[in-house]
Amino acid sequence: MKSIVSYPERGSGGKNTYRGNCSPLLIEDLIRQYNPDTIADYMVGSGTTGDVAKRMGIPSFCYDLNRGFDLLNNEIKERPDFMFWHPPYWDIIRYSGEQYRIEEVVSKYGIDPSASDLSRKQSWEHFLKEIDYCTVKQFAALEKGGHLAILMGDVKKKRKLYSMILEIAKPGTIEQIVIKAQHNCVSDGIHYSGKPFIPIVHEYLLILRKDHALMYNYQLTGNVEGDIRDLNLPTWKDVVAGVLEESGGKVTLAEIYTAIEGHKRTERNKNWKEKIRQTLQIYDLFGSTERGVWFLVEKGEKGQRKIAA
Ligand SMILES: C[S@@+](CC[C@H](N)C(=O)[O-])C[C@H]1O[C@@H](n2cnc3c(N)ncnc32)[C@H](O)[C@@H]1O
Repeated sequence: MKSIVSYPERGSGGKNTYRGNCSPLLIEDLIRQYNPDTIADYMVGSGTTGDVAKRMGIPSFCYDLNRGFDLLNNEIKERPDFMFWHPPYWDIIRYSGEQYRIEEVVSKYGIDPSASDLSRKQSWEHFLKEIDYCTVKQFAALEKGGHLAILMGDVKKKRKLYSMILEIAKPGTIEQIVIKAQHNCVSDGIHYSGKPFIPIVHEYLLILRKDHALMYNYQLTGNVEGDIRDLNLPTWKDVVAGVLEESGGKVTLAEIYTAIEGHKRTERNKNWKEKIRQTLQIYDLFGSTERGVWFLVEKGEKGQRKIAA
């Protein structure tokens, strides 16, 4: 196994008709690489991990909401040394009610799977909270020295990337990130006219190792909002250009002052108004045809604006 894997042929095990199924060849490679005593998969979907483990003679513990096991609310009874986890990619493929019948699970196991199906419609933030909960729960159940391998993908919605690997909690030691090429995705045939669009043709396999039986650490990612007008960093040019871009047209000097006044940058420099006037004069980025009214100069044919020396 190398840090990039690709399985154009799926291999046998699980069901290729169960949407979002993964290649049995990946599970085979992981078993060969880590040589575990046991392998567990608490979201086994169509049964890929179990089928491969059986073929390779490894005891496995395989469950899924479609088999009446809910990772959010049920206890993990085992203490395996290897776990493979392939959670839903947010709400891209809906499982309960689409890949299997809800009524069947209710009548067979007495639980309503739609209530805790991670693929149901929910906010990205709530989905991440549930993913983090499941990650830590599985990590806690892992034997000391064991590995948790998480296969996950990115989601693109309205030109914004929602990246699980960037945002989820990663307890323990990050041992490896493997890029897995994706083949025959539904999105392969989608083209978006006009807008720059890079199709996603890979997934990530994150491999975490549990080095300590009781203690763990992980970094948390979070959103930070800031205002360029408060930064110590950019030049005055970027602040003034930002104000003009935000207005989208012509702006008077007084309006530029108002948009910047009160921000940290003006508190640090008592001559800030003078600095703004100077900035407007220096850069050819800024134009003025009537006294005291400013706009951003349009870009030339080659997309460049002339910047004064
Ligand atoms: C991407 S699929 C796994 C596919 C699997 N690797 C295969 O090859 O078929 C994700 C699975 O997570 C299951 N799931 C969603 N929420 C769950 C929960 N709370 N507890 C257990 N399984 C859940 C879904 O039923 C679905 O089968």
